[in-house]
Amino acid sequence: MITWGCQMNVYDSGRMADTLAPLGYSPTETAEDADMIILNTCHIRDKAAEKVFSELGRLRIIQEARAAQGRRPILAVAGCVAQAEGAELLARAPFVDIVLGPQTYHRLPEMVARASRAAGAVIETDFPAEDKFDHLPEASAPQGLTAFLTIQEGCDKFCSFCVVPYTRGAESSRSEKAVLAEARKLVAQGSREITLLGQNVNAWHGLDANGNPSSLGVLARRLAEIPGLDRIRYTTSHPRDMDDDLIRAHAEVKALMPFLHLPVQSGSDRILAAMNRRHTREDYFRLVDRLREARPDLALSSDFIVGHPGETEADFEATLDLIERVGFASAFSFKYSPRPGTPAANATTQVEAEIADRRLQTLQALLRDQQNAFNASKVGQTVDVFFTHIGRQPGQIGGRTPWLQPVHMQAPDSLIGRIMPVRIAQATTTSLAATLVQEPACA
Ligand code: 5AD
Ligand code: SF4
Repeated sequence: MITWGCQMNVYDSGRMADTLAPLGYSPTETAEDADMIILNTCHIRDKAAEKVFSELGRLRIIQEARAAQGRRPILAVAGCVAQAEGAELLARAPFVDIVLGPQTYHRLPEMVARASRAAGAVIETDFPAEDKFDHLPEASAPQGLTAFLTIQEGCDKFCSFCVVPYTRGAESSRSEKAVLAEARKLVAQGSREITLLGQNVNAWHGLDANGNPSSLGVLARRLAEIPGLDRIRYTTSHPRDMDDDLIRAHAEVKALMPFLHLPVQSGSDRILAAMNRRHTREDYFRLVDRLREARPDLALSSDFIVGHPGETEADFEATLDLIERVGFASAFSFKYSPRPGTPAANATTQVEAEIADRRLQTLQALLRDQQNAFNASKVGQTVDVFFTHIGRQPGQIGGRTPWLQPVHMQAPDSLIGRIMPVRIAQATTTSLAATLVQEPACA
């Protein structure tokens, strides 16, 4: 399984693996060892989609070499490239056996069976009877100390530049019951932190156990009642869907981490309108003020696009100004990439590549400065860090602050799995170094 793109793809890959486990499939380290190769793809920008085709070129060689040994692996392309470019993809890469969009993963076992039959009897006999494939397995693989949980999919916002409404479809929410059950199971399997996922996660809505309407603030409170679930995060949110109750939840729910990814894309009202974002820069400022009132230590991150059709120098300056005024702990920023089928791709006011490149560099320098400053502001402080893994250097363990900053520390790996106060000794743009505040007490 090779996964690109957003965290929802990471989650989906896990679910596909769960679906395939009863068929006898388990993950391999390399494509060379695999009986099936699934590419879980991303279509969000041109570069992301192009990676799929270059990877397919590499995999074709592996597939042919294995076929010569009588063990031709099944090649499947899943995710948003599959959804958006299915027919074209097969024309360009006819050696692909399965193409499946994000909405069809529950049918993967049936597709594998069909593909195996087409590829020859040898592989077909490796599989059990088809009627066993058509439901998800009861027990899914544990995700570890931190877990993803998709609660919402799709998007009805139709931002001018974005393929998501076309590849992931209309907004839909999983039921509160299903979400709570999956969360309890993840915690029982050892997860202490859950990140709720959705393309428009804060548009999540459902009915609570009494049949009353429930939204993300309510869900966060219910999740926080699960013993052992210490950290809750959610991503990605749209500014329009941050309702009062969710903002209040940031004040009231201790497990809700004080870090919010809240993409604004641009700081220019003109471009926000062209992007069909349905909010102004003032709306964003007001929202940030209310969030910080509710949770003074809340840190923000965002996505930015430079070079959207029609973006002038003044529009770009307005984006820089918004960044200065808000102050971001981190951010993702991109050069506008025309996506086939989206309204912005047809605009006649495309921005020259060199201009967009220069704007991106300027913007990223500013965001880097802010990230440095945010990280440096933690030096000397005692911060709760959730240690989750062995560090890169010998004797190191690694984890995350409440604000999602990566932390490393020289400490015994017996501390992995603990959330503990540590002293931040050093900061770089991308990580913090910590020291133990005190010798840990016995667990
Ligand atoms: N070009 C550049 N960036 C894009 N994004 C989405 N579509 C495009 C595009 N066509 C960015 C947005 C979004 C993030 C996931 O990717 O900033 O929030
Ligand atoms: Fe894309 Fe806009 Fe929906 Fe986000 S809100 S997924 S950018 S259409």
